Amino acid sequence: MNRRLITTALLILCVLTLQAKKDAVPLYKRADAPVEKRVQDLLKRMTLEEKILQLSQGLLGGNDNANNIMPDDASMTVSPMIGSVIYTSTGPQQRNALQKRAMEETRLGIPVVFGYDVIHGYRTIYPVPLACACTWNPELVRRCCSVAASESRASGVDWTFSPMIDIARDPRWGRVVEGYGEDPYTTSVFAAAAVKGYQGDNPAAPDKVAACLKHFVGYGASEAGRDYVYTEISDQTLWDTYLPPYEAGVKAGAMTVMSAFNNISGIPATANRYTLTDILRRMWGFKGLVVSDWDAVFQLIHQNHASDKADAALKALSAGVDLDMTDNVYQDTLEQLVKEKRLSEDVIDEAVRRVLRVKFELGLFENPFTPDTPAALLTPESVKTAESAAEESMVLLKNEGGILPLKNVGEIALIGPLVTDDFNLMGPWTAHGQSSDVKGLLEAFKEEFGGKAELTYARGCEYSGTTDRSGFTEAIAAAQKADVIIACLGEYNNWTGENASRASIQLPPIQRELLEALDATGKPVVLLLVNGRPLDLSQAIEHADAVLEMWQPGIAGSRPAAGIVSGRINPSGKLAITFPFTIGQIPIYYNRRSPARDPNQGYYQDYPVEPLFPFGSGLSYSSFDYGNIVLSADRVDKDGALEASVTVKNTSERDGMETVHWYIQDPVCSVSRPVKELKHFEKAMIKAGETRTFTFDINVKRDFSFVDRHGSKILEKGDVYIIVKDRKEKVTIE
Ligand code: BGC
Repeated sequence: MNRRLITTALLILCVLTLQAKKDAVPLYKRADAPVEKRVQDLLKRMTLEEKILQLSQGLLGGNDNANNIMPDDASMTVSPMIGSVIYTSTGPQQRNALQKRAMEETRLGIPVVFGYDVIHGYRTIYPVPLACACTWNPELVRRCCSVAASESRASGVDWTFSPMIDIARDPRWGRVVEGYGEDPYTTSVFAAAAVKGYQGDNPAAPDKVAACLKHFVGYGASEAGRDYVYTEISDQTLWDTYLPPYEAGVKAGAMTVMSAFNNISGIPATANRYTLTDILRRMWGFKGLVVSDWDAVFQLIHQNHASDKADAALKALSAGVDLDMTDNVYQDTLEQLVKEKRLSEDVIDEAVRRVLRVKFELGLFENPFTPDTPAALLTPESVKTAESAAEESMVLLKNEGGILPLKNVGEIALIGPLVTDDFNLMGPWTAHGQSSDVKGLLEAFKEEFGGKAELTYARGCEYSGTTDRSGFTEAIAAAQKADVIIACLGEYNNWTGENASRASIQLPPIQRELLEALDATGKPVVLLLVNGRPLDLSQAIEHADAVLEMWQPGIAGSRPAAGIVSGRINPSGKLAITFPFTIGQIPIYYNRRSPARDPNQGYYQDYPVEPLFPFGSGLSYSSFDYGNIVLSADRVDKDGALEASVTVKNTSERDGMETVHWYIQDPVCSVSRPVKELKHFEKAMIKAGETRTFTFDINVKRDFSFVDRHGSKILEKGDVYIIVKDRKEKVTIE
């Protein structure tokens, strides 16, 4: 009896001691407590100074990155109380050094969150996002982003400033390369895929990072393709075109959003309460954090929207920008604004909550450090994923006389600056990608054609400049003795990306001249294009028998390009953006609204009105025959659903992948709708001779409604057409 009593007493004592110990640990440090409670607990312990520092993002880089040369002890120059840094160093050492100070030397031990621009890979660089969209394979893109996430997190980066989901319809804008093209639906699908790839189901996992939807919103509408400039966007267009990908990204669970540089019809995106608060938070329920773009808060002064730094901070924070990237404007002004009662501390608290929430959700309080062990970078599986993406992204634009795949060629002349400039194949925003990781075109063609054809190489010319033709003689001599010429032309890697607008999107004159000279030899010319934007090929196209748009394919694009040329690979990419015939047609995109006059009027007097290669273009070595669209019903009610299907027969002797694009057209609507709008796509392999059925499961509300200029969804009775290629069927909504 006594023994039992003693045991019970001991047990009670143990439980009480454990409870006391637990109580001694502040709630915010307890991993088992709900995130919201932890956030609240931490917030109430913080001083105003600590809160303001949480709203600041600095820069921390290693001396190993050519673009961001910083001293070895850079981590000592950043306040350990800072909310976040952009981390450009290659390994976790400097991260861990700063994090150690944050965890051990600050009063509350709040971890720093480390962000970086991992746009199309961290070390394993896969194709640029515009190319990724041309795969029409969101699952593959999800896998690419997943590789990027694991390489990043293992190297000290918790958060990527990606995906960029700005709709872009002006190829003069350099940043067209960073997004998924011109179509809101396509971009929405890839936005969700990217978020899933980066964050997975649990962003706190050691191989996941937080995603960031950028640049919110309308940045792609930059006037005349110039970067950072004004954008004129009506509310209707904002809702129709620019917002849908963000809504999809938020639905997919993106933890962060970046405010854009552009001025949206008078109110800069970084001070825009309507977009940042009314839409993003109130209408869509976004709970994550909004970071400004680089210096964007300060730039409100340049945009004639703020009188000074304090005014800029007040406007950005009140509009809904929580974290201030790099310009220290919040850090320098918020305390004074509170003292002067121009800003309530409640507004700061709300922003701090959002920053802290992301840190808790990333598991940084439990795992603030990155293991300092060699990260698994560039693994064979990762390279394979990058190669698959490159393979599926390449678009065969022209193939006259079926010259490709090459047949019975004895000698091939590989000509052009891109044959050996491996670095340029990666495109812009290469994070920690290195030239030595890239398999170049020369090497890949040697492997592909080894023992089958002789290869000669001549550079021919440089990327630009009009005078130096010294390489032409060698190139023409190589061309003359070859059976086929492969011209590898295009853009230098930094001709696209940020601050890389171009008034001409033709191949530079020297490259066009070389192409003409090669064509003049009378030998067949295959043009391999490496570029990050739609080009104006009107002057070049006639000088090539075949054109393969390789894009900037990353480290592993050369083997697929050689494989498509040899026939080992059947091309399956299709354009996610229109290629204009000439620059004078810009903006040109498939989902325009119908004009007033009949189609024979309003044309250009001097140029075609149609683009050179429309959205969705892309050839295959297989040929496909489409059947008629079959509907499960031709009358539906507003809450209804129906199924549309179409058969596609591969009539060739080659297995091939085909993407079926399903469009709708609403011929009479209270807000005129575009001539057609993509609503669904599916890519699948169809074996030689086989017929496959593709299906679009239509939810009437989801697929046939449209938004008005306030963002309200409207569904009207009447006819809607379902369109696949040149097939069209009518459905009546009752
Ligand atoms: C770009 C962003 C980028 C940020 C951080 C800005 O200049 O517009 O896209 O994420 O810099 O590097």
